[in-house]
Amino acid sequence: MSASFDFSARRVFVFGGTSGINLGIARCFASAGANVSVASRSQEKVDAAVAELRNLGSKSFGYALDVRDVDAVRDALAQHAKDAGDIDILISGAAGNFPAFANDMSANGFKAVVDIDLLGSFHVLQSAYEHLKKPGASIINISAPQAFVAMPMQSHVCAAKAGVDMLTRTLALEWGPAGVRINSIAPGPIEGTEGMRRLAPNKKIAEQCARSVPLQRLGTTEEIGQAAMFLSSDAAQYVSGVVLPVDGGWSVAGAGAAALAMAQPHK
Ligand code: NAP
Ligand code: COA
Repeated sequence: MSASFDFSARRVFVFGGTSGINLGIARCFASAGANVSVASRSQEKVDAAVAELRNLGSKSFGYALDVRDVDAVRDALAQHAKDAGDIDILISGAAGNFPAFANDMSANGFKAVVDIDLLGSFHVLQSAYEHLKKPGASIINISAPQAFVAMPMQSHVCAAKAGVDMLTRTLALEWGPAGVRINSIAPGPIEGTEGMRRLAPNKKIAEQCARSVPLQRLGTTEEIGQAAMFLSSDAAQYVSGVVLPVDGGWSVAGAGAAALAMAQPHK
């Protein structure tokens, strides 16, 4: 794995950092010298991620929690402050997704995704603020193209991730004066992830999806990690409040049309 950034002795905390894109981001930072902590619901996944990151040389800590439970988020961050001290770089990426037409989804199904992606992000960001190193901290919310391109079977995710990006923009205003930068990354379709398994459940659909990307391939978790390192580095110290698509040009090409090809016909 390439690591062209130096984050030696920087403390990173990745919410939802135990699998997929977010674990890829955690790996990148650890490979670049950072000490990376992670949190997610499954204790088993937390333990495995911490072990992997420690093998990369990181002083890692892990916490099992649900981001929908604000007290659990606060308690974990308070414990992390004792375990590891202040946070230089916060990544908020816990999320849930399932493909379903709005007419086929219960209110609770819609709520589950909004509660994890949007309310959970608020819990993480607001609770972590007091533990950030100020000035100089960098926050990255993991968004999605669904935030700005409508997709069938994704009404819950579109609504939730659009909210996440507005949180990014609003908090850039509120926290900028304290020297805290906050940005979103909107990954395109990323190979080998749970999100792709759910939205492109077979090889044919995954290939169609790759063809709909101007760069003609799926992205990698490392490419999202590289973008996260750039946004958290000194090279980006005047960048705040942006939503950065890292998607091979997918959103420009019209991800909605691509998603239509993936969707099942409505009954
Ligand atoms: P993933 O591996 O399922 O990642 C989701 C992470 O969030 C896991 O670590 C999961 O661990 C954790 N999580 C889920 N619900 C949680 C909750 N209620 N509380 C705490 N942690 C929770 O899926 P992924 O596809 O890599 O997605 C990662 C991020 O990238 C998400 O924000 C997603 O919206 C975004 N994204 C993905 C793609 C893609 O192509 N995959 C494209 C655009 C954006 P536990 O199960 O242990 O809780
Ligand atoms: N279609 C329609 N509704 C669905 C659904 C689907 N495929 N999957 C779940 N739901 C509904 C459930 O029926 C339930 O609603 P109900 O109570 O009215 O029946 C609601 O969503 C909550 O489901 P539940 O399983 O209790 O939620 P949970 O909190 O345990 O899990 C999810 C949250 C549903 C988002 C789950 O898929 C998850 O944990 N995902 C995390 C991993 C992930 O999605 N990764 C991809 C990248 S973001």
